[in-house]
Amino acid sequence: MRRVWGVNRNNAPWTPCRRPGVTLGRRNVTRPQGRRLKQRLKKRAGRSSSSVRWLERQVNDVWTEGARREGWRSRAAYKLIQLDERFSLLGPGTRVVDLGAAPGGWSQVAASRVAGAPVIAVDVLEMKSLSGVTIVGGDIRDRQTCDIVLEALGGEADLVLSDMAAPATGHRSTDHVRTQALAEEAHVFATTVLAPGGCLVVKVLRGGAGNTLLAALRRNFRTVHHVKPEASRQQSSEIYVVARGFRRNSR
Ligand SMILES: C[S@@+](CC[C@H](N)C(=O)[O-])C[C@H]1O[C@@H](n2cnc3c(N)ncnc32)[C@H](O)[C@@H]1O
Repeated sequence: MRRVWGVNRNNAPWTPCRRPGVTLGRRNVTRPQGRRLKQRLKKRAGRSSSSVRWLERQVNDVWTEGARREGWRSRAAYKLIQLDERFSLLGPGTRVVDLGAAPGGWSQVAASRVAGAPVIAVDVLEMKSLSGVTIVGGDIRDRQTCDIVLEALGGEADLVLSDMAAPATGHRSTDHVRTQALAEEAHVFATTVLAPGGCLVVKVLRGGAGNTLLAALRRNFRTVHHVKPEASRQQSSEIYVVARGFRRNSR
């Protein structure tokens, strides 16, 4: 039996310490409030130029800084906020499963919008407990994990989220193949736990879902869209597929 790390779904949903960003500008996209002047870091002994560049990017990244200030566990929280603004995925009563949830930004956003409905966060990595979120430790490819999720949900889900990424090997095509494989696993998982009419949001890599996955998504869902939220780094090849209107009888 797998361990369920933190069960606290009866608590009030988590709320950020400040307003989760403001809605600004083009197409009402939520961005963090305030911007600081760009900081330059000094090159220190033992620090290569590439690690200085990486650190500068982190320090100057408006989403990382916004997440820290506004109390989100990761900059990724803004991606889900922006997807929700566009597709109205979350609302009071939405039952959510978040695959590859650690450190928990997406689960925080979900719990703050579902008004006490179950939010189940699954990850192979240990995750600190979050109010309004049931944390299940395990690999989503194990049948047992799926059973535990269904039990924790007490029924079916309305929304399956997957921001899963395989650990980076530094070998681009290996990383690509592994992350695409996880997207396919997320689709299989979703078809097991989703209620009819439910939605799946899944991270894929540039080029979108592979042909096989795309065909399967089109068979199983009424509409399928590819989206790159503003909070996703432009240099990153990640993109999200939003599939809505799950059709049970095409499982
Ligand atoms: C980019 S992070 C997710 C960030 C998260 N959405 C947030 O907002 O904080 C990707 C996560 O996927 C998890 N992951 C990768 N493969 C997995 C698998 N087979 N089963 C469960 N989790 C997995 C990793 O452990 C990692 O924590």
